[in-house]
Amino acid sequence: MVYMDKWIAVILAAGDGVRMKSKLPKVMHKLCDVPILSYVISAVKKVGIKRIVLVVGKNGDAIKDMLNDPEIEYVFQYEKKGTGHAIMQVKSALNDFVGNMLVLCGDAPLIKSETIKAIIDTHEKEQLSATCLSALLKDPTGYGRIARNANGKIQKIVEEKDASLFEKSVEEVNSGSYCFNAQALFSLIDKIEPNNAQKEYYLTDIIGLMNSKKLLIESYVTEDSQEIIGINSRRDLAYAQKCLQKRIIDYHMDNGVTVSDPQSTFISGSTTIGRDTVIEPCTVIDGTVVIGENCSVGPFTHLRSGTVLEDGAEIGNFTEVKNSKVGKHSKAKHLSYIGDAIIGEKVNIGASTITANYDGKKKHQTVIDDNASTGSHSTLVAPVKIGKGAVIGAGSVVTKNHDVPPGEVVTGIPAKICEKRKNNDE
Ligand code: UD1
Ligand code: CA
Repeated sequence: MVYMDKWIAVILAAGDGVRMKSKLPKVMHKLCDVPILSYVISAVKKVGIKRIVLVVGKNGDAIKDMLNDPEIEYVFQYEKKGTGHAIMQVKSALNDFVGNMLVLCGDAPLIKSETIKAIIDTHEKEQLSATCLSALLKDPTGYGRIARNANGKIQKIVEEKDASLFEKSVEEVNSGSYCFNAQALFSLIDKIEPNNAQKEYYLTDIIGLMNSKKLLIESYVTEDSQEIIGINSRRDLAYAQKCLQKRIIDYHMDNGVTVSDPQSTFISGSTTIGRDTVIEPCTVIDGTVVIGENCSVGPFTHLRSGTVLEDGAEIGNFTEVKNSKVGKHSKAKHLSYIGDAIIGEKVNIGASTITANYDGKKKHQTVIDDNASTGSHSTLVAPVKIGKGAVIGAGSVVTKNHDVPPGEVVTGIPAKICEKRKNNDE
């Protein structure tokens, strides 16, 4: 039984992210719409560790504002002198802490909470001084390598830039995540020196130091090597996004959603999708979106945050939906923009219908009641309400506040009532 209250999580996020070539701190860059750092924090919270310490650099206040999380403690590392130096600042801040410490990199967002639990378990069961999360990579370029002796015992971690040709051939890489006995870590951290290619205080040197003191060190090798990906460049960001997308889309497929072409589909992490819904190619779903069962989305559809599609809704080619509810069995199959709208059931949105929601200053709502239908190329200037079963003629412009009464047919610019709807089956 692991007692999480004896644990503290330290997340390193003070690096400038020089290789990103950005004014924004690296950990604030977004992956599938969510900041990189937030993934790491969520994984830690899921494990149940209550005390989370974030090491931040001179841009720390921006990170603090972004997270807006009163449960997180901050340690500032004003000079970026390496991951070992970051832990030296933690030592000064938490000198009195006794227990175990999970250290994670704020730039490695794909880590899973199950894996964190597994390394914590290994660390506790075997009463280790350090447990390194590692992975086997066919191309280990850029990562620190786990150096073992002939008996397979971990000796040290060697950074790529300091590695010999032999060490570079080692496929077991350091993820940058570890569990430490805090006392062992703090007693040796000040012995780390910046005698290396980057003139930095490497946290990884702690492993060699612990080994020389005969302290127990092990690694936990994750089977899913993707989860250790550290984001250093825009290329890494794109790669991590691809891996995360695969995870998200696999999740939906495993839950009964058809995704015709996963490669060309983007689905945000905060989207829920009901069974038997089909997502056609080149669909982008971002922000928080709720899709019911038996819906059809795409091809070439953009669903934005706040979209709710009820069961059986169909949104098709070149249609964008934002902050709108589309009722059961309603359709918008071609070339439309639906923004800030509430659409009832069995509504037919004709090709190229636009809800003109923005007057240059404010957004306004469009309501389209059950069984109404809009003709091709019609424009609904919000705020406006289209009554039950009403019909908007092709090319009409329904001007703002000129609500269309139930069952009426309107046409023209501005749209005027011309007749009662015939064959209104509902
Ligand atoms: C680090 C590890 C490497 C490992 C890799 C995994 C060291 C010396 N190397 O290399 O063995 O394979 O991660 O991704 O630790 N940071 C600070 N303060 C600093 C420097 C960095 O908080 O002074 C933070 C960064 O914001 C980042 C994390 O520590 O979140 C890792 O730093 P980074 O410079 O990216 O290290 P790597 O070169 O990737
Ligand atoms: Ca990194």
